[in-house]
Amino acid sequence: MAEPVIVTDDGPVRTVRMNRPEKKNALTLAMYDAMAAAIEGAGTDPTRRCLLIAGAPTAFCAGNDIGNFLNMAMGSGALGAPILRFLYALARCEKPLVAAVQGNAVGVGTTMLLHCDHVVAASDARFATPFVGLGLVPEAGSSLIAPRLMGQARAFSLLVMGRPLNADEAKAAGLINTVAAADAVEAEAMKAAREIAALPPQGVLASRRLLRGSPDEIIARIDEEAALFKTRLQSAEARAAFEAFVTRKR
Ligand code: COA
Repeated sequence: MAEPVIVTDDGPVRTVRMNRPEKKNALTLAMYDAMAAAIEGAGTDPTRRCLLIAGAPTAFCAGNDIGNFLNMAMGSGALGAPILRFLYALARCEKPLVAAVQGNAVGVGTTMLLHCDHVVAASDARFATPFVGLGLVPEAGSSLIAPRLMGQARAFSLLVMGRPLNADEAKAAGLINTVAAADAVEAEAMKAAREIAALPPQGVLASRRLLRGSPDEIIARIDEEAALFKTRLQSAEARAAFEAFVTRKR
């Protein structure tokens, strides 16, 4: 069976690729763990100067696996440890994060981009966070970062109303840097990653820290969101939404 996350190092750039295309890169607990380990490992490895997060040509990431959400809802409701490990790894990562987005970026597929420093997306990319429609609340620190980045009105539309953004709208909102043709997205993102990696590394780290501020505030918000998420996961609203998805007929 193919590895669901493929990590490759090319000189100073580490690529972390989600590789479950048959499920549109919906994230399993094993995938969160593998991605967290790759990010944490790059953080302590001086030879890695930049990370590139990529998906599949047909899907960046369809968010958390909904079957897994249903299991969590039936259990304690707590977010699995690998999910929190991944979110903390993103928030604590000191190395610049670049992302290459093709197809759909749903749920955490979009909120992980708020932790990235440079995002290249295909012209047909679509960004959606249907948390509230699923009976949930936003996660990954998005309730803090998104309003700061794009303003309250656009953050509310995206995170609460669940209205998706297309690539041009995401660019206008400041979520992504560049819109490229689908077949040029990865090369464009790698170019940016190499450009960052070629800069003096200590200068990059210090400057990024200044721009992002301390991760403590974001970690505290991730915890606050996770506590609410736990309650919401066990709500009748959420269970009905997950069951409707896993039993849907197409
Ligand atoms: N969890 C579990 N399985 C998922 C999934 C998810 N989040 N997203 C997609 N899949 C699965 C589908 O069930 C389907 O599996 P099947 O072939 O065994 O039936 C497969 O991936 C392909 O999905 P499909 O819906 O046919 O692809 P699409 O291109 O028509 O649509 C999406 C892609 C991402 C728009 C759509 O799958 C979707 O909306 N997924 C749910 C996203 C979501 O709500 N995530 C949670 C956010 S909090």
